[in-house]
Amino acid sequence: MSAWVQLKGVDLRFGGVAALHAVDLRIAPGERVALIGANGSGKSTLLRVLHGLLAPSAGIVLRDGNARQAMVFQRPFMLRLSAMNNVALGLWLRGAPWKQAREQALAALGRVGLADVALRNGRTLSGGQQQRLALARAWSLQPQVLLLDEPTSSLDPHAKREVEALMAEFAQAGMTLVFASHNLGQVKRLATRVIYLEQGRVLADLPVHAFFNGPLGATSREAELFVRGEIG
Ligand SMILES: Nc1ncnc2c1ncn2[C@@H]1O[C@H](COP(=O)(O)OP(=O)(O)O)[C@@H](O)[C@H]1O
Ligand SMILES: [Mg+2]
Repeated sequence: MSAWVQLKGVDLRFGGVAALHAVDLRIAPGERVALIGANGSGKSTLLRVLHGLLAPSAGIVLRDGNARQAMVFQRPFMLRLSAMNNVALGLWLRGAPWKQAREQALAALGRVGLADVALRNGRTLSGGQQQRLALARAWSLQPQVLLLDEPTSSLDPHAKREVEALMAEFAQAGMTLVFASHNLGQVKRLATRVIYLEQGRVLADLPVHAFFNGPLGATSREAELFVRGEIG
């Protein structure tokens, strides 16, 4: 299978709410896919389905089971442990001996520029540092696919740039990225492809250039307003 993942006719309902409806898509290795759409349009739900955390109510999900994948959530959850141990624990839980887990954790912290706070309590780090710690935790698993849910939405401009730079470096190293974002500048900088969701439906799925330069009015008036920054 050349796709990392393929969704066919995926519906996901939460009780009476259709969070996703009739979603068809495939994502190939090396793509950098941005999920955009207003609040409640289904971005987080789609990420959770892609990561295998939610099973669809209907339709099928085919995933390359050999591809290692990791997800960074919108508000990363840190344990009341050192930054290093927050990373090491994930590795240890996956079978690495503790000493090796700590070494790899330190390397991952170095990768995201947090080596100097390795012994600080993860919960006392700034928002930007915690988001980088979450990236270190994901990166330490050496994923081929990284899913990120609005990874910079709660960060100040400086931290935003740092996290974005790391995402760009990961992409450059060949990692497949799928990220939800409200930041259209970031989408233009990082994505090769844009999936626009409205009320759980994929209304546009286009190369980034075509999405921002083509006439979206035909797709959806809301998409047009969204791209012009009038909603979201
Ligand atoms: N755990 C849940 N239980 C019930 N409804 C949910 C749950 N998660 C999401 N929803 C609903 O599903 C829809 C899509 O939500 P979500 O995927 O979080 O959108 P987005 O990330 O684009 O803001 C919304 O109507 C939301 O209220
Ligand atoms: Mg969301």
